[in-house]
Amino acid sequence: MQDKAGLLQEGLVRIQREVDASFDEFLPMPADTRKRLIEAMRYAAIGGGKRVRPLLLTATASLFNVDRQAAVRAGCAVESIHVYSLIHDDLPCMDDDALRHGKPTLHRHFDEATAVLAGDSLHALAFEILSMPEISDDPHVRADLVATLAGASGMHGMAGGQMMDIVAEESQYDLPAVTRLQQLKTGALLAAAVEMGAILGRAHEDSRAPLRFYSRDIGLAFQIADDLLDHEGDEAKAGKALRKDDGQGKQTFVSLMGAEAARTQARALVDQAVGHLDHFGAEADLLRELARFIVERDR
Ligand code: IPE
Ligand code: IPE
Ligand code: MG
Ligand code: MG
Ligand code: MG
Repeated sequence: MQDKAGLLQEGLVRIQREVDASFDEFLPMPADTRKRLIEAMRYAAIGGGKRVRPLLLTATASLFNVDRQAAVRAGCAVESIHVYSLIHDDLPCMDDDALRHGKPTLHRHFDEATAVLAGDSLHALAFEILSMPEISDDPHVRADLVATLAGASGMHGMAGGQMMDIVAEESQYDLPAVTRLQQLKTGALLAAAVEMGAILGRAHEDSRAPLRFYSRDIGLAFQIADDLLDHEGDEAKAGKALRKDDGQGKQTFVSLMGAEAARTQARALVDQAVGHLDHFGAEADLLRELARFIVERDR
């Protein structure tokens, strides 16, 4: 039997390879002057990220024996939204960051206009991918995937959370408000990844409900871990500038309750998340290990 750390390590390496290969396929270089745009999209999308969202999607899809290639493609759609969100998050009008994935941020390496357009185009690419017949031969499944990802990306999800994050710099949030902010900013996209795996698998509601509880808990834990990394992580390992949240007046679990209590909270959320997977057997071990990785990671 394979040990559990090996299962996660293997899962991460495999999905990183698959996502890179898919983006390479989705982003061929054109012969005209759009070249700079596609170069920028490739710069941001290929290599670097942990690929937690595609791994969540494929690990969930595998519970229901979904075709691997379809799940990887759908994983790329979620990752495309995530990569776009990072490009825009790093812009001077947002967090104003110079380093991402251990290299200059896109607007520093290219320019701001290119960064805005690369973000826009990755946003569109996500839905283009989900509309492809290779994802599923059932148009209802494809429409359901599109609706789920759209809901998690816009005002009811990531972008809404980013707005709350920016407004928080000028106001005082309490714990319920920060929880809501984190759930939208980060949790929504992670939850969408899990839900999309279940949609591809045409999972029964009996299986979807525990998966939803699981993803809600890991979503919150994931952003607490990111905030802890900002507070006390190693920049070389994280590949991005840290110790910025305090200075920018970001409101996080760490700023509200201190690092120790935030860590305890994140670990409790992961235990709770893993508990929801009792509905499944050993086939959900990768999701269990991924939940642990989400809080114990150093990047
Ligand atoms: C960072 O996300 C931004 C947040 C939503 C907290 P990740 O930690 O998943 O970023 P990469 O893609 O692995 O770098
Ligand atoms: C960003 O959160 C979340 C997004 C939706 C992109 P952060 O601003 O904390 O992410 P990092 O720390 O820059 O990766
Ligand atoms: Mg930010
Ligand atoms: Mg940021
Ligand atoms: Mg952060």
